[in-house]
Amino acid sequence: MTDKTVNVDLGARSYVIDIHSGSMKDLQGKLDRYVGAEKYFIITDKNVGALYLSQLEKSLSSPYEVYQIDPGEASKKIETYNNICTYIIQNGVTRKAAVIALGGGVVGDLAGFVAATILRGIKYVQIPTSLLAQVDSSVGGKTGINSPLGKNLIGSFYQPSLVYTDITTLKTLPQRHILAGYAEILKYALIDDTGFFEWLDEHAGGLLAGDPDVLSEAIAVSCRKKADVVARDEQEGNIRALLNLGHTFGHALEAIAGYDDSLLHGEAVMIGMNMALAYSVDRGYAPEGDLEKLRKHYKRHDLWPKWNKTYSADDMLTHMQKDKKNIKDRIVLILMRGIGKSFIAKDENAADIKDFLARYIKGR
Ligand SMILES: NC(=O)c1ccc[n+]([C@@H]2O[C@H](COP(=O)([O-])OP(=O)(O)OC[C@H]3O[C@@H](n4cnc5c(N)ncnc54)[C@H](O)[C@@H]3O)[C@@H](O)[C@H]2O)c1
Ligand SMILES: [Zn+2]
Repeated sequence: MTDKTVNVDLGARSYVIDIHSGSMKDLQGKLDRYVGAEKYFIITDKNVGALYLSQLEKSLSSPYEVYQIDPGEASKKIETYNNICTYIIQNGVTRKAAVIALGGGVVGDLAGFVAATILRGIKYVQIPTSLLAQVDSSVGGKTGINSPLGKNLIGSFYQPSLVYTDITTLKTLPQRHILAGYAEILKYALIDDTGFFEWLDEHAGGLLAGDPDVLSEAIAVSCRKKADVVARDEQEGNIRALLNLGHTFGHALEAIAGYDDSLLHGEAVMIGMNMALAYSVDRGYAPEGDLEKLRKHYKRHDLWPKWNKTYSADDMLTHMQKDKKNIKDRIVLILMRGIGKSFIAKDENAADIKDFLARYIKGR
């Protein structure tokens, strides 16, 4: 059984994540039930558009317009945002229109931000087509674009009215992006669920090979976990920060890589989670055996990203000190007392981190 529903419980802003496999045939019914717009503005990228736009168009009986962007992170910027807004305004937007984001996290973040701001906010629907978008970026309402000064610096918390996830779209997703999405699934296990970690260790082979039952189960568990955290802390006052496990190290690696295709976000997170646990062991928070277990998991399922740029502890620290979570000069990190036992460490010492990183990089 691949069909599953996850509720995101946010009072008046609650919504449903509909996980299923097959051809978007009941989409119009779902839109009528959860959105009820008079007109839809579909935003997609040219890769996803070429693969899935006609399927989406066939399933719609409501009026719609389409805007396609160039694929890739470089499109998540103010110019694209402005072009989409201009297009929507010129094509008859009213408060009763809604946006449909068809694509990966780039389209989702950008289209969500358009929906959040156009006419001070119209409804939107996420149809996530990458694994990362299906388990992470389509859920929780973080929308936004990059500034030349940094990633995701312009944006808004704005929840969708429906997330409509068709896992069959993953059949065309390049394997490297499947692995990158898997990093975020593994993240949920490492945060607070040793049982889920054991399950993944057992089933990751099937998941990475596209087994629909394993995929839908892993996606549903991931969405449930994210929905639960978001329901408790929508605007990241405290526990939502746990979702950044591996991300402070990971973002530094992405910055070092230059935010290009040489290192995908999920790949950086994969390395970052291993660093976070290794650092936790180093500081005496977590037992060595758990790090061994994680390393075995990476090895068994061939999860290590093939990225071998050289960098120094100083390079890493410079970027880590810019992290949004930091309070003044105290470095905030998500660390682990073991697999499935993450916590927010609010006062880590830059010198300890640097010392650890120097040894970690040497042993790489
Ligand atoms: N809002 C959030 O909470 C949140 C969380 C995590 C990441 N993000 C953001 O998500 C973005 C990364 O998302 P992503 O990894 O999905 O990147 P992406 O949107 O660039 O998609 C990756 C690539 O796969 C292609 N693609 C997508 N679906 C496909 C399919 N089914 N078949 C074939 N090709 C397909 C895309 O065209 C693109 O080339 C980043 O900008 C990141 O900041 C946001
Ligand atoms: Zn992430």
